[in-house]
Formats: sequence, C-alpha cells, structure tokens
Amino acid sequence: MSQSFDAPTVIRIKRDGGELSDEAIDWVIDAYTRGQMADAQMSALLMAIFLRGMTSAEIARWTAAMVASGDRLDFSDLRRDGKPLALVDKHSTGGVGDKITIPLVPVVMACGGAVPQAAGRGLGHTGGTLDKLESIPGFTAEISTAQVRQQLCDLGAAIFAAGDLAPADRKIYALRDVTATTESLPLIASSVMSKKIAEGTRALVLDTKVGSGAFLKTETEARELARTMVDLGTAAGLKTRALLTDMSTPLGRAVGNAVEVEESLEVLAGGGPPDVVELTVALAAEMLDAGGLDGVDPAEALRDGSAMDRFRALVAAQGGDPAAPLPLGAHSEAVTAPRGGTMGTIDAMAVGLAVWRLGAGRSAPGERVQSGAGLLIHRRPGEPVAAGEALFTLYTDTPERFAGALAELDDAWSVGDKPPSDRPLIIDRMMPG
Ligand code: URA
Repeated sequence: MSQSFDAPTVIRIKRDGGELSDEAIDWVIDAYTRGQMADAQMSALLMAIFLRGMTSAEIARWTAAMVASGDRLDFSDLRRDGKPLALVDKHSTGGVGDKITIPLVPVVMACGGAVPQAAGRGLGHTGGTLDKLESIPGFTAEISTAQVRQQLCDLGAAIFAAGDLAPADRKIYALRDVTATTESLPLIASSVMSKKIAEGTRALVLDTKVGSGAFLKTETEARELARTMVDLGTAAGLKTRALLTDMSTPLGRAVGNAVEVEESLEVLAGGGPPDVVELTVALAAEMLDAGGLDGVDPAEALRDGSAMDRFRALVAAQGGDPAAPLPLGAHSEAVTAPRGGTMGTIDAMAVGLAVWRLGAGRSAPGERVQSGAGLLIHRRPGEPVAAGEALFTLYTDTPERFAGALAELDDAWSVGDKPPSDRPLIIDRMMPG
C-alpha cells in the first residue's frame, strides 16, 4: 500500500461529510482487521458513517475490502450425481421472530438445492440464526471448510459461523451491536454482502425487512437497501434478487432463541403459524428458481416430512441432538388482557427489545446469550381476546430482567373492538437491473 493513512484523519473526513477514497477504505478495513486500529477509533468512524452515509462507490469498495479481509470459499468443483451443485442461499436484513432460515434451509435441501449458509449472531434487537440454533444441545456452527464441503455434497447444506470469511465484518458487526450503529444502509448492505460474496454461493435471495422491527423503517429506505444489495451481488457474479417483506409485527408466535427453534419444528412438521409458513415457502420458491431448480413444490417438502428429515440430518451432522428437549427460561411472567375484544397491532421493535432485555441478545461484545430467554405471543393481531387471559408469556433465567422487558411492552399492543387493517407480508420482489 503506497499511501499511508491514520485513523483520526479518516474519521475526520467522514465526520465532516467527505467521501473516503478507495485507498483510505482499504487501509481502514485492513488496519482494523489486523488489530492496528482501536475499537474506539472504528466506533467513531462507524458513527460518522451512520450519520453521514456513504456513496455507492464507497459502499462497493467497503464491501470488497471486507471480502478481501479473509478467505473466499469456492464450491464450484463439487458434484452430486456428476452434476454441479445448485448452490443457493438466503439472507435476511434482520427482524423480530425471524426464524425463517431454520425451516427454509431444509426445504431447499429436500428440493435438491445446496445451501452454504454463513449465518450470523443477534444484532441489536434482532435475533441471529446461530444464537437460535446453538440452543439445540450439542449443535455447533464452528465447522471446518472440509466439513462444509462434505455436508453440501452429502446432505445439501451447512450452517456455519462466518469464521475466516469476511473477518472484518465479524469485528465490525460485534462493534455495531454495542455502539448503536446498526441501523445504517451502507453498513447493513456491506455486512450482508461481504459474507454472502465470500461464502461461495452462486445464487442469493435477500429478505429485506421493512417496518418498526426492521433496521430501516420506511419502504423508501428498504427499497434502496434491497437495490444496493442486489447490485453488489450482481456485480460480484451472484444471481441475486430480493423480496421486500413486512416487519412491523413479529413473525409467528415465538420470539427468542430456543422458542424460535421450537416453532420452526412445528413448521417442519407441516403446521406452524401461517405467516412463517407463507414466508418460508415464498423464499424457498425464489431460491429454487434462482438456483435453476424448476418443477419442485417447496410446500410439498413441508407436507411430506422430507424437510423435517433433512433438518434432523443437518442438526445431527453438526453435533446436535435433534431429539433433545430444548431449554426454556426457568422463570416466566404473563401479560394478561385488561378487557375482552380483538387483539390490535403488536409492535415488532418493542417485542424485539423486550426479548433482548430478557437475555436473548447482547449488550457487550461476546456476551453469552440465554438459550431459554424468549416470549410467546398467545394472541396475534385480529384474534379474539377474553378479559384476563394471557396475551404474552415471557421467559428468562434471570427474573430481575422482567421489569425492563415488561416496560418495553407497555405501549406495544392494544385490545380494541375492531381488527387492525391487514398488511401484506410480501410487499415486493426486486430483480437485477
Ligand atoms: N445481517 C447482517 O449480516 N448484517 C447486518 O448489518 C444486518 C443483518
């Protein structure tokens, strides 16, 4: 690297609304990954990016530098029955009760796809697939690349911690989680796409969330995020597309870690909440289409049990015991209905924060999450409510957390006389171009 930089100068440029050069971005990502830029300095730069934004050229370079910070996997040599694997993955921009990856991956496996899923941990008020799956006794996402390759060939999926992929994102992601810098379009787009470009998938479906429980609240911002990510993926040679989906209400009836795995098992058994099933099937259809797998019905894989079989095989391959009981917080507290009527809207952001306060997420880097922390929603919007019945049950191992969690829920729901107006779950679909 010919030009030399220093962190205060780079931070000052962004703080004052300037554009970072390619060389400055390469230097920052490299220095931070190698531990030569302090967390405090990266935190200041992230806040400056949060407040000032980035141009598309800066986002593209920041993403490329994060990809270059680690290994880039390549599975193009893998074959099943003599044919290249249909490598396809999905990533969500983060939601509340968003357990979709857990039933989705086995559906796509059952339909002939191969999913190399580099998954993440919880971020802010949103849950992470790894934190949820690690509530299954024995399950590990710390698997070698050799094991990922073997599983892709033999089973059709591997769900792994990003590890040496985009290590810059791993460090920045953990820092964003505890510095209130998550809700930033350039930082979300580069975080998602650096992992997905590095993980070796050939096709990618992005579930871009919009609404109170999403990082970006407005449809305009979410569309811009989806477009930015689709363009980044396409430029990197991935067949990329996005769905824009509603995240104003939590998905399903379970929010937390093990409780979301439990609900995913219901979906895999052919039941489960209709919104979770609808989104699982819609995303699976997009993945199969993007992966070139025509003529297969993803809903059938839920009905005939083949997705459940794949899930069990995947969990067992990664050390988990699919038959072991899942943990549930030792203490519970119910929120009851003050009157009878109809359940109104339930604010996804408030529920996400309540569950985070129960111990399902982190407030310091590397903190252990509680597998049994979570919340069950007994009455979804529009369902009838009887006075005095439980609307929500909260679970944690540390009962001193209830007060904060209950306070988050205070203005998050209502019981009224009329059902709230219906919102479509799937708002739009965005293709390259
Ligand atoms: N998922 C990611 O991987 N990164 C983000 O910033 C948000 C969601």
